[in-house]
Amino acid sequence: MKGLVYLISGAGGGIGSAIVRRIATSIECGTIIAHYNSNRKSVESLKNEFETKKIKLELVQADLEKKEEVKRLCDEILTKFGHVDVLVNNAGWVDDKEISERSYEDFEKTVKINLLAPFYLTKVFGQKMFENKFGKIVNISSTSGLILHSGSMCPTSIDYDATKAGVNVLTKNFAKEFAPYVNVNAVAPGWVDTPMNYELPEYVREEENEKILKNRWAKPEEIAELVWYLMSDKADFINGSIYEIDGGKK
Ligand SMILES: NC(=O)c1ccc[n+]([C@@H]2O[C@H](COP(=O)([O-])OP(=O)(O)OC[C@H]3O[C@@H](n4cnc5c(N)ncnc54)[C@H](OP(=O)(O)O)[C@@H]3O)[C@@H](O)[C@H]2O)c1
Repeated sequence: MKGLVYLISGAGGGIGSAIVRRIATSIECGTIIAHYNSNRKSVESLKNEFETKKIKLELVQADLEKKEEVKRLCDEILTKFGHVDVLVNNAGWVDDKEISERSYEDFEKTVKINLLAPFYLTKVFGQKMFENKFGKIVNISSTSGLILHSGSMCPTSIDYDATKAGVNVLTKNFAKEFAPYVNVNAVAPGWVDTPMNYELPEYVREEENEKILKNRWAKPEEIAELVWYLMSDKADFINGSIYEIDGGKK
């Protein structure tokens, strides 16, 4: 028994680590490819914690802003593993800034990491899944790609919002492209307690809490739970869907 091959981008981050943990504690065997960019320490600690004789954790590094590194990452994985069964496009970047202060280059960086990299990874690994007649792809989008967050304290991120809307469009297009064998879905979280938001001041968190029916932010594990469901056989009839997970909007 070799099990499935899972690829999680941004596996060392808040949501990425929770997804790796959920997979590693649920499967009997398999290979989890944990991608990271700068935070090797985090993925190494996941490897130390979860690698067993039957569950392999492979660490792969790539800066997804750089197209040569995205292509190199795909080549390396295909050479070593031949294919991926489950892909989670989780790596993401945000830089809150007023529109008037945002440069062409700022916007370009966000598009490269949040949209072009998932496009290319999905194209390459999705094609292999299609040929193998099996595969699951889950994209981590955001409610920012569906609604305009507003409020006096709410940070502005026009580029991030645009890329997450783009991820939703990718999701639906790739679901069609790789049908009927590959399920491609997206999870669109609202606020989640992860390093991405650690620098936001407390008053922003309080104001944002006020807009959520559950009056709190999500834990990364709650997002990972939905991702796990979408990659399971139980979700086989779900395809091309965008799942909001935000505690409810007031
Ligand atoms: N937190 C939220 O409130 C929230 C809400 C909705 C959606 N999301 C989405 O959830 C996903 C995970 O975010 P998170 O909240 O877990 O944030 P996080 O803890 O900051 O993790 C972000 C991950 O993205 C990776 N990454 C960033 N820039 C990269 C680059 N240039 N190349 C390769 N990888 C890069 C990071 O890798 P390294 O650390 O190794 O550099 C890290 O693993 C993102 O797509 C984010 O947009 C988050």
